[in-house]
Amino acid sequence: MTAPALAPRDLAPAPGPLPGAPRMLTGDRPTGRLHLGHYAGSLANRIRLHHHYESFFVIADLHMLTTKNSREEIAEIGRNAAEMVLDSLAAGLDPEHSVFYLQSGVPEIAELSLLLSSLVTVPRLQRIPSLKEMEQHAGQREMPFALLGYPVLQAADILGAQAAVVPVGKDNAPHVEVAREIARRFNRRYGEVFTVPALVPADVPVLPGTDGKAKMSKSLGNAIYLSDPPGEVAAKVRRMYTDPARTGPGVPGTVEGNPVFAYHDAFNDRPAEVAELKERYRAGKVGDAEVKERLTAALNRFLDPIRERRATLAADHGLVEELIVTGTTRTRREARRTLADMRAAMGLTAALAGFRRAARARAGTPEDVRDRG
Ligand code: TRP
Repeated sequence: MTAPALAPRDLAPAPGPLPGAPRMLTGDRPTGRLHLGHYAGSLANRIRLHHHYESFFVIADLHMLTTKNSREEIAEIGRNAAEMVLDSLAAGLDPEHSVFYLQSGVPEIAELSLLLSSLVTVPRLQRIPSLKEMEQHAGQREMPFALLGYPVLQAADILGAQAAVVPVGKDNAPHVEVAREIARRFNRRYGEVFTVPALVPADVPVLPGTDGKAKMSKSLGNAIYLSDPPGEVAAKVRRMYTDPARTGPGVPGTVEGNPVFAYHDAFNDRPAEVAELKERYRAGKVGDAEVKERLTAALNRFLDPIRERRATLAADHGLVEELIVTGTTRTRREARRTLADMRAAMGLTAALAGFRRAARARAGTPEDVRDRG
């Protein structure tokens, strides 16, 4: 872990991005409540960046369908999306300066994705390791067509909104590379339509799970959620994995790779306390129980203002829903414009326009053959 993550209570009422600021786009599949791993890995970075960019956040339910598409999973999209947005706002995204959109509510993205898919080859997509992993993770024996197209759909989000910067983690970086390639290829072949997006890598170490596994994740059941109440955080920290070789408080312990210290590094706003605990731990002069109590206190100091804001926002019934509705409408406008530019640049509108002209000339009754689409 690097410097302590930006504590939400330190958030001054910050100004929004300057008018005409470049656009940022990122987002997640709607899996539900956000945890500390999301915060350390992406949310803190988004909160920092969204003061400088006009910011779009996709709730990528179409991407979710590439691996999870049972009726039950689909039925949960609404609740999961709302929880995710609520957590993001509680953690510090300013609703005035954040456009949240539900991907399936922007059908233009599907059309964009189809048009872009001619500009990338199957072997290029097959070489992306994250897709293989998602395939295995989803228990698939063979690659679904839609999953192979996952990066192309992501390119449709990014290019459809003409995003200039895309902050993502390691897994998503190759997808952004595909989006850049597609944008360049399109611009070369048909004319300059797309902003070529820049990748902003999240250069933070991945937060381990409470069980010491490499990654905090909902499916592994090793997560501490931003919305966990204080008692729940205390219980999870008490059960946390530490140095397995340490048999008692008098035995020197290892700090490196110890998740308790990884969390201290990421979330404890008192670096002197962390340094002192590490020293005593290495010397066998502090018990795991005390290190954990201090961690619980630090996490609750970090989470308290988030909990407070979450409760206030949740009490404002319909707020999150309204944000998603207006954000989806807004994004739809952007995607429509991009799609029209794209079709025009490709010359794809010419044939039907020609048919219409000829049909009108023959009928002499424009009403009958007017475009109603
Ligand atoms: N692929 C992202 C995920 O892992 C979600 C996503 C969809 C996304 N479209 C995007 C991220 C565009 C950044 C930019 O859930």
